[in-house]
Amino acid sequence: MDQIRISGGNELNGVIPISGAKNASLPLMIASLLTDDTLTLENVPHLADVESLIRILGNHGVDYSVTGRRQAEDSNYARTVHFTARNIVDITAPYELVSKMRASFWVIGPLLARVGEARVSLPGGCAIGTRPVDLFIESLEALGADIEIENGYAHAVARNGLKGAHYRFPKISVGATHVLMMAASLAEGDTIIDNPAREPEVVNLADCLNAMGGKVEGAGTEQIRITGVTSLSGARHRVIPDRIETGTYAMAVGMTGGDVLLKGARSDLLDNALDVLRGAGIEITKVDDGIRVYRNGNGIMPVNVRTEPYPGFPTDLQAQLMGLVTMASGTSSITETIFENRFMHVQELARLGADISLSGQTATISGVPFLKGAQVMATDLRASVSLVIAGLAAEGETTVNRVYHLDRGFERLEAKLQACGADISRISH
Ligand code: UD1
Repeated sequence: MDQIRISGGNELNGVIPISGAKNASLPLMIASLLTDDTLTLENVPHLADVESLIRILGNHGVDYSVTGRRQAEDSNYARTVHFTARNIVDITAPYELVSKMRASFWVIGPLLARVGEARVSLPGGCAIGTRPVDLFIESLEALGADIEIENGYAHAVARNGLKGAHYRFPKISVGATHVLMMAASLAEGDTIIDNPAREPEVVNLADCLNAMGGKVEGAGTEQIRITGVTSLSGARHRVIPDRIETGTYAMAVGMTGGDVLLKGARSDLLDNALDVLRGAGIEITKVDDGIRVYRNGNGIMPVNVRTEPYPGFPTDLQAQLMGLVTMASGTSSITETIFENRFMHVQELARLGADISLSGQTATISGVPFLKGAQVMATDLRASVSLVIAGLAAEGETTVNRVYHLDRGFERLEAKLQACGADISRISH
């Protein structure tokens, strides 16, 4: 298994291009199941999760092609990808595929809406809590689907099609909001969704559905209103920049010092999170082609933060924030409210010398003057990258094991950091 080796202590200076968002790309790719026409997505990042989903969609009958590259163009950069689900050839998403990536469960909505039936394995995915699927089931049942859980599969049927309904989510879920928006777009009549997720990725999907001829209003607010249409067409749509990647590199610069342009980043996608980082002492300014991040010589200040659904501080930046404040000049408190077991990085940051105590869902981090390199490992994507950014700031050598988690969600991580002066390399075994 590959490892990443970091020799810490270098400042980061230069330009880091921000990739298309993984968490926007996945639902957009799944939306291709809603039409027999071609959905073209621009700015799709080259990531293991994207490749896995391509395989999963292929199993249902989705053909894909990547726009021709010019010679010498790096195949690892974001691409324009065409998805065509001319015929749905299989309504089953098998365990072998779904267990690798939780988001693949989301095919349940489009399959049900398009062909009236779906049989989808209950998901696996990151080890960050139980992550049930009750909200998906309940909201699709509100549109008239009959859903049975049998032998580890959700079997959903809507022989006479789905019917619009008024549904209120009892708890905010990004995935269930995506799925309900997709299903309701091909349902008969109007659907109103109260208490949906308001993440930018939800807005990006709604824009895509509208480009496909859907009628979705209110995405990004507390109520989404959808008028069902009988069919959706192809479209060309652009994936938004990755706000989690943006926040991660901003914190990397906060830890190492330096001055970096996060090229293509959109500050409006993570305003509140950037305010938290400013509060921690990182200088962040919006510039024409992205966001400039630098440290003005002052140290890191402690923070007091709870993760919340958007527009609150994202759970996907919690581990990185914890890495950042390990070296703060005081005591920080970080409470995780979204997932109940998202603290695997705590033990590993401690291996680098961090002083963290856990009580329930709250971590108390007493800042230390420096971290020291060590062997570390993490079992989740965002936790892994928090160890990388801590390793960049630690004295001496850090080796991060189980790198495949990073490859799921960070495009060209080592190359981007190397270009800014980091001493980081991959050891392939
Ligand atoms: C998405 C993101 C993930 C991010 C998360 C929260 C993608 C591919 N993944 O995950 O990176 O960490 O949003 O911002 O976009 N829940 C239920 N029942 C359900 C569904 C969810 O109880 O049926 C709970 C979950 O256990 C969790 C909370 O709701 O406690 C939020 O989960 P959700 O927003 O659904 O996360 P994902 O969509 O899986």
